[in-house]
Amino acid sequence: MKRREFINTALTGGVLLLTGNALTAQESRLADARIEILPDEPIGRIAPEIYGHFVEHLGGVVYDGVWVGENSKIPNTGGVRQALIEAMKRIKASVIRWPGGCFADSYNWRDGIGPRAQRPRRPNFWVDAPEWPKGAPDGPWKYDTNHFGTDEFLRFCQLSGAQPYLAANLRSLTARDFYEWVDYCNSPAGATTLAEMRAAAGQREPWKVRYWGVGNESWGCGGNFTPEEYAVEYRRFSEWAPRYGLNLAYIGSGPNGGDLSWSRRFFGRLAEKGGFGRMWGWALHHYSWNVTGGRTNDWFQGKGEAVNYPNEEWYELLSEANRMENLITDHWAVMGEFDRQHRVKLAVDEWGAWYKPGSEVHNTHLLGQQATIRDAVLAGLTLDIFHRHADKVAMANIAQLINCLQALFLAHEDKFILTPTYHVFEMYAAHQGGQSVRTHVSAPRLSYTRNGKPATMRGLNGSASLHDRRVVLTVTNPDPNAARETEIAIHGANVKEVGVTTLTTKDIHAHNSFDNPRAIEPQASQASVKSGRALVYTFAPASVTRLQITLA
Ligand code: AHR
Repeated sequence: MKRREFINTALTGGVLLLTGNALTAQESRLADARIEILPDEPIGRIAPEIYGHFVEHLGGVVYDGVWVGENSKIPNTGGVRQALIEAMKRIKASVIRWPGGCFADSYNWRDGIGPRAQRPRRPNFWVDAPEWPKGAPDGPWKYDTNHFGTDEFLRFCQLSGAQPYLAANLRSLTARDFYEWVDYCNSPAGATTLAEMRAAAGQREPWKVRYWGVGNESWGCGGNFTPEEYAVEYRRFSEWAPRYGLNLAYIGSGPNGGDLSWSRRFFGRLAEKGGFGRMWGWALHHYSWNVTGGRTNDWFQGKGEAVNYPNEEWYELLSEANRMENLITDHWAVMGEFDRQHRVKLAVDEWGAWYKPGSEVHNTHLLGQQATIRDAVLAGLTLDIFHRHADKVAMANIAQLINCLQALFLAHEDKFILTPTYHVFEMYAAHQGGQSVRTHVSAPRLSYTRNGKPATMRGLNGSASLHDRRVVLTVTNPDPNAARETEIAIHGANVKEVGVTTLTTKDIHAHNSFDNPRAIEPQASQASVKSGRALVYTFAPASVTRLQITLA
């Protein structure tokens, strides 16, 4: 191939495959970024549970989002929004966490069972939140009717094809209430009084719930415990619950972001007595919210706009998201000081972008926010981080599913749209169950101005997984201004064909809305190629890309 031909093809944004061996040294210098995929260096299986979701009784998530009621004119199955169920199946939704969040530690599961008309109305945990949009009326989002309870949630999971993950109330209920909830969900048909109550609600057979959270944010809204106090509570709650033949997986309430001392002190206490046999996962929460470049750490002042953000906040938010990598490796190292076999894995059961109020699609949607291509890049780079640590991260749950924070869906009454984050989950679903393999991404850092001073952030980010003779490579280009020409090499393998799917927009503030629901959508293309070893691809600015590479 002639050099001019190589340059031209590479610059068009298309895929170029070179027949024969890898690029020559002279040719490879033409691309300013390089991705090397090492199929012989497996990291771990990408747990489908990394593609998990989170539904809390918060603003418009449950009432208006998931639950429309059986008598609604909005198409539904047993009261659950039908369009949501269908969309969940398309992305192979793996697991859904419920009922919180902070709400979980105020929730009595007994309020949400039995005939709906007889269920009590209770104040919602979030009723007094300062972020409520102006004029938000009263309704089930403030005074919960409990119409969406355990059986409704578990049926939603079943319809969506996802496993349930129930978060138990550790702050205001007892260990007995916890194991009775396990009994209600999992006891064999007719075996216990609670199994009969479940049957009366229409579910004779056990729901077989495997994942159980032992509290939520126990360092804050979940009880304001010290790690030592929480360790005592954790031991009490996890000591006994009926297993009914299931391998119950308990998830401990882990740290707030980089709080290593919470992990160290809790693991230290657990190691003193009993060890780690009764823990499957350690929850880590990390939100990307502070876009001030260090000017403030104030929870309210530090947040930025969801849509009309200045350029600097593009870089700041994505830099916040990049912190996930160190959070995983740092907490993992601390856990390993005590749990030397690493029996306990990380469950990042809350992650995503958190903006200031104002872009919600309805005033009952507390913490509701719009989503742009920036959210898509954030989702892609975070999922790529999880893949690169597939040996450590066993579950992750983006916050939250619908009408709240980094949602995959926005809905109000009969209106329902997909956000750019949904499209990333759809594209990245191809990774599920694959073998994550070592992937080196070398690319120039991005330069920007941070509070008037020069700053840089990580450039291209990506991960690859192997599925027999197919490699799935996903890459985010966080540069809002420049495309990135990249040479991609797969060690020891020849490439037969490449399918490309890209999510990008020219306007970084563009977003899907009820009036324009398809402003941001992935575009697919197929490159028919001769067999070859190396390829060059130019990643569009502000983009998320999936290459499906079939090996010869
Ligand atoms: O996702 C919103 C809230 O963020 C959750 O309820 C809580 O766990 C976290 O602080």
